[in-house]
Amino acid sequence: MENKKSEITPETRNLGKTGELVTFLGFGALEIGRDWGYGADRRRPDETAAAETLNAVLDMGINLIDTAAAYHLSEARIGKAVSHRRKDFFLASKCGEHNREPHTYYDFSYQAVKKSIDESLDKLKTTTIDLMQIHFGPDPHKVLDRGDTLQAMQDAQKEGKIRFLGASAWSELGWRCLEMDVFDVLQLDYHLLHRDDEKLIHAAAQRGVGILIRTGLGRGIYTQKALEALPQLSPSVQKKLESLLKLTNNDTKQLLQIALNFLKSNHSISSVLLGSRKAEHIQENLHLLQTPLDHNLFANALEIALAP
Ligand SMILES: NC(=O)c1ccc[n+]([C@@H]2O[C@H](COP(=O)([O-])OP(=O)(O)OC[C@H]3O[C@@H](n4cnc5c(N)ncnc54)[C@H](OP(=O)(O)O)[C@@H]3O)[C@@H](O)[C@H]2O)c1
Repeated sequence: MENKKSEITPETRNLGKTGELVTFLGFGALEIGRDWGYGADRRRPDETAAAETLNAVLDMGINLIDTAAAYHLSEARIGKAVSHRRKDFFLASKCGEHNREPHTYYDFSYQAVKKSIDESLDKLKTTTIDLMQIHFGPDPHKVLDRGDTLQAMQDAQKEGKIRFLGASAWSELGWRCLEMDVFDVLQLDYHLLHRDDEKLIHAAAQRGVGILIRTGLGRGIYTQKALEALPQLSPSVQKKLESLLKLTNNDTKQLLQIALNFLKSNHSISSVLLGSRKAEHIQENLHLLQTPLDHNLFANALEIALAP
């Protein structure tokens, strides 16, 4: 496939103290491997379309791809479509949650995690995964108490199979991961109407931990999927999203631009892993971040979103 370079140069940021520069917009490769998200259009693309999206993302200059053993076809599709461009991107994956299509299951034992890392290397067709993150599920504290998941990751790191250690965590678990002082990167859930981990994000960034944001668009609630998503949201989020839609006269492009700019204004964030099946959506997100936003509109949106 021919590489077509984009006209927009994506902003880059430090990934904590790792010495890596990553694009502020990263690519979340969940949707290209597994059915996911709100609304009717939640089926994963076919292999050709997924390969086109992955190559287009790299052509746009985005240099971070986040996947997981649990994202069904995602790792294998990345391996097939872009392993020949491995130098173009920082590769993050996860372990502990395993693929068993159409479901997943958890096994955080030493053997299962060690085997999973080897299988990820194989599927991704690479000799090194830049970042391996614990993909926490139920009983996350037990995983940390037992310590064998981390041990398996550290052993893989000594063998040169992974470079940096991370944890995909939340709230109190995230604080515990930070206190352990072994993780180079934390992956957290954060967006305009979900700021529970804001203090953790700042505290971790101050200590040199790289911050990756998952669900930065709330799984698509700031897009044309807003109306389909509304009934599934909590009453307080529903109310605020309705007010934001009213403020923007139901112009979801404006809403998306507001949500993206909110993330951009947080300098503790290293990269936002936006998930998408469609290259044109990623291109649009890059474009919206470069388009001037009406200051009054943004201030009014923040007033709605940040109200108690
Ligand atoms: N436990 C974990 O570690 C965990 C959990 C969840 C997610 N993640 C990671 O975080 C990434 C992002 O999470 P997420 O995908 O759930 O949420 P997200 O990035 O907040 O939202 C993704 C949704 O937004 C839509 N979207 C993006 N740009 C758009 C645009 N310009 N116009 C219209 N729709 C647009 C996508 O639809 P289209 O596909 O139609 O573009 C997709 O449905 C995942 O891919 C994964 O890498 C990690």
